[in-house]
Amino acid sequence: MKDRTVHRCSACGTTHLRWGGKCTQCGAWNTLVEERARPIPGPSSAPNTALGGGWHSGEMGTIDPVELMSVPIDAGRPTPTSIGQFDRSLAGGLVPGSITLLGGEPGVGKSTLLLQLAASWATQGGRALVVCAEESAEQVRRRAERLHAAVPGVSILATTSLWAVLDAAERFAPDLLIVDSIQAVADPVIGASGGSVAQVRECAAQLVSFAKRRGVATVLSGHVTKEGTLAGPRVLEHLVDTVCSFDGDRHHALRILSVTKHRFGPTGELGIFEMTEDGLAGVDDPSKLLLGDRRPGVAGSVVVPVLEGRRPILVELQALVARSSLGTPRRAAQGVPAGRLSLAIAVLEQRAGFSLATMDVFVSIVGGVKVSEPAIDLGLALALVSALTGVPLGEGLVACGEIGLGGELRQVVHTDRRLGEAERLGFTQACVPTSAPVLAGSMRLVRVSSLGEAINALRLSPIRKLHV
Ligand code: TYD
Ligand code: MG
Repeated sequence: MKDRTVHRCSACGTTHLRWGGKCTQCGAWNTLVEERARPIPGPSSAPNTALGGGWHSGEMGTIDPVELMSVPIDAGRPTPTSIGQFDRSLAGGLVPGSITLLGGEPGVGKSTLLLQLAASWATQGGRALVVCAEESAEQVRRRAERLHAAVPGVSILATTSLWAVLDAAERFAPDLLIVDSIQAVADPVIGASGGSVAQVRECAAQLVSFAKRRGVATVLSGHVTKEGTLAGPRVLEHLVDTVCSFDGDRHHALRILSVTKHRFGPTGELGIFEMTEDGLAGVDDPSKLLLGDRRPGVAGSVVVPVLEGRRPILVELQALVARSSLGTPRRAAQGVPAGRLSLAIAVLEQRAGFSLATMDVFVSIVGGVKVSEPAIDLGLALALVSALTGVPLGEGLVACGEIGLGGELRQVVHTDRRLGEAERLGFTQACVPTSAPVLAGSMRLVRVSSLGEAINALRLSPIRKLHV
């Protein structure tokens, strides 16, 4: 195969055969960079597995189509990793020959999870190769000791050269290849610097090709930017089979592994972990963990059953209001989108007769959990009213519902699952919209049609005159 020159857009990663001033894909100007497409090392007669003959297989030789019914059905079966929460989120484990992208903010615990994954894999008799492109082998060894992950069967390769990675992986023949991180490896042929769109994309494409050709389960870690996109704007997401996101507040222990794309099973299941002194530990009962330090009977606190993926979790929402000394009072929201807080305040003022105009308002979800779904609206508004009036919400109560701009309450999806979880944890009553379905179980439902009705039904008035 001859080398050929292509021009890659450094903004969106699209390749063009001819240079141009403007990328016809994303419209960016002066972003096309010349690069040489490099042939992938390895046999040209790549086996045509059910997972595909490889990213570049069309360039490497002739492949015949296969009869669908003759494709082995077992290809695509996951191998359990024996990290329960990981397997749960990935519908059973890692599929041989598949590529998984693990994204997360720096410091969230990606390297920790991947090292534990490698150790767990090796303990089951697998051959794991961990490419640590950001740390030295000594650093990884020290970390492994702390994680009890220093086990035979895990090999470490400290390099940032993609060629070294592919070469070692070819010779070593692991069945699990971890590249930590994809932004830190670079193909020397590509002029662009490590971490650039062109590099990230090309390196990932070559690793995909390798993984498919050799049937190696491969996991790449990737840092996400503050805006929450994987650096190299989404260029990797369509290349890989599975996209996972590892989230959590660095100041709290809870970590959530969610899957946004999965070619081998459903998405929506979550893995929940706790960062401990000895690394990540699976959490089987997150609601219990999150409500562990709750003090019932405190004004401004509401328990809300939220859905994380398909999993219901109870979170405690807290609000605090205090007279402001500032011209523009403070509005601080942790774990809740600022927009949802503004909406709750506006509806309270316009539809329920409360004034927060001169008050600083703080709301937070305990435990570093982030919730953006509208189901939190009712709990948010009730927490604010409770904080403002100083009247605590009733014992054993949870609240969930979306608030409309008219102050009306709307039902949210899977009320049954949410309340089932609340009941399991000993909650006895739930404030829900009138339209919520009839539910099995023994929970007392306080059905209300508007925010005002909810405030009356829960006896959160009269207002202690904090506001003017
Ligand atoms: P790390 O896995 O290096 O994050 P990432 O690869 O996503 O950047 O995790 C870094 C944080 O995890 C670090 O701040 C310390 C913490 N940590 C623990 O609390 N316990 C542990 O056992 C380990 C290894 C890390
Ligand atoms: Mg790391």
